[in-house]
Amino acid sequence: MKFAEDLLFIAPTPLQLAEELSGWFFAQYLESQLFEKPFYVAISGGSTPLLFFNILAAKYGQYIDWKNLHFFWADERCVPPKNSESNFRSAHINLFSKILIPENNIHRIKGEADPIREAKSYSTILFKTLPISNELPCFDLILLGMGDDGHTASIFPGENIKTHFENICEVTTHPNTGQKRITLTTNCINNASKVAFQITGMTKSSVLNEILLSNPTSDKYPAARIKPTKGNLYWFLDAGAANGLCSK
Ligand code: 6PG
Repeated sequence: MKFAEDLLFIAPTPLQLAEELSGWFFAQYLESQLFEKPFYVAISGGSTPLLFFNILAAKYGQYIDWKNLHFFWADERCVPPKNSESNFRSAHINLFSKILIPENNIHRIKGEADPIREAKSYSTILFKTLPISNELPCFDLILLGMGDDGHTASIFPGENIKTHFENICEVTTHPNTGQKRITLTTNCINNASKVAFQITGMTKSSVLNEILLSNPTSDKYPAARIKPTKGNLYWFLDAGAANGLCSK
């Protein structure tokens, strides 16, 4: 199976998966502290991470020295931070408002700014803040979701090749709503030390089966382009999303 070299965690329900992912995240943080260096994380939006955010705050919040973590985003909708669509707002409500993290450690993508200018500015921030490896900013961990159509971050099927290889941040357009997004590119994501997908729900199982079981060159889904060049790839799935995977 293609994903023999990836690491797969399957839990019966979204809640149990979020428990698993929170514990795993805590372990990654502890490991980073052994080297006494900051832990640079990029998170995603959507509904899937909300349970994880809440459990991380409730169960591990008091055990983490949050001044050693820096949060970035894998993508953001081009809306103001108080807009209900904002990924920053979602993380603030479900995580940051519940933990003692310095404001300077939260590096939001300014959805209210001009998208092209903000993509460039965020890229500069990443180059200035993160360790550099292979001449690119290197996250310790990037947490991703996946849409029913196989998109990840805000890289959608059919995006032109530029979105994946030249820059580390790009402006994209949601294919259904036309909403402008700012996203990390596969170029940047694949340079991370660890990338973890958190995917739940039966609606994602058929695309997931194709990505995990088909020929690795199958490239029609952006999530299939996530192949860390030197880091590890982890799949945190609930039983719904993993439906059909183990019967092959
Ligand atoms: C976003 C996300 C996006 C998300 C998937 C899955 O800004 O919407 O970054 O890539 O992870 O669309 O969304 P759900 O978790 O809501 O299924």
